[in-house]
Amino acid sequence: MAAAGKLEGIQACVFDAYGTLFNVASPVEKLAGEIGDKAKDLAPLWRRKQLEYTWLRSLMGVHADFWHVTRDALDYALKQLEINEAGLADELMTLHLKLDAYPDALEGVTAVKKKGKRTAILSNGSPSMLDSIVRHAGLEKLFDHVLSVEEVGIYKPSRRVYRLAMQKLTIQDAPSVCFVSANTWDAQAAAQFGFQVVRIARTPTIDDNIPGKPARVIDSLAGLADLV
Ligand code: LAC
Repeated sequence: MAAAGKLEGIQACVFDAYGTLFNVASPVEKLAGEIGDKAKDLAPLWRRKQLEYTWLRSLMGVHADFWHVTRDALDYALKQLEINEAGLADELMTLHLKLDAYPDALEGVTAVKKKGKRTAILSNGSPSMLDSIVRHAGLEKLFDHVLSVEEVGIYKPSRRVYRLAMQKLTIQDAPSVCFVSANTWDAQAAAQFGFQVVRIARTPTIDDNIPGKPARVIDSLAGLADLV
């Protein structure tokens, strides 16, 4: 656990979306009955490939939006696991636009807003994907900005993505931003960029062996407002 106590000088909280505010496993969980035993492997493999493809495309300089990458990753995962049910991929993609928000998201972000902090989402998701999940979860009033990497055409953890948040929030000093993510690599890259980072440890996870250290690690968004 990182040190406890309030972070100093925070003007805005910037949230990762997938895995932090929204449960990316929820489409597979909802269709688990249809998918059968392989459901437990499908959710993590789909997510892992989705992220890998964002990193690979960023390094290759061949950007495609997150909807495209998410479908490519799903098609790979279904093929790898030899799941062949007709129509399943389309159903899972439709559910990806209606992800469940984590139960602590509404309360956690509301409490941050009540503290007078500005709020934003900064995500790999395309604008239409983000618009859909935010509205579906009824969170649209909670965020001053919903920012997509599509504005810079490269994925996290490119510094260009984290810089986008500063530009849109018109914040000059990176440490004035509290960046919140449950994805270790995203949390650490954002810390390396210069944000003060709160990592949400939704499941017990150690830091990755890459540069960047979160300022705080807490297990739920419910504890965030006390830190800012
Ligand atoms: C996002 C991914 C990293 O929302 O979860 O940007």
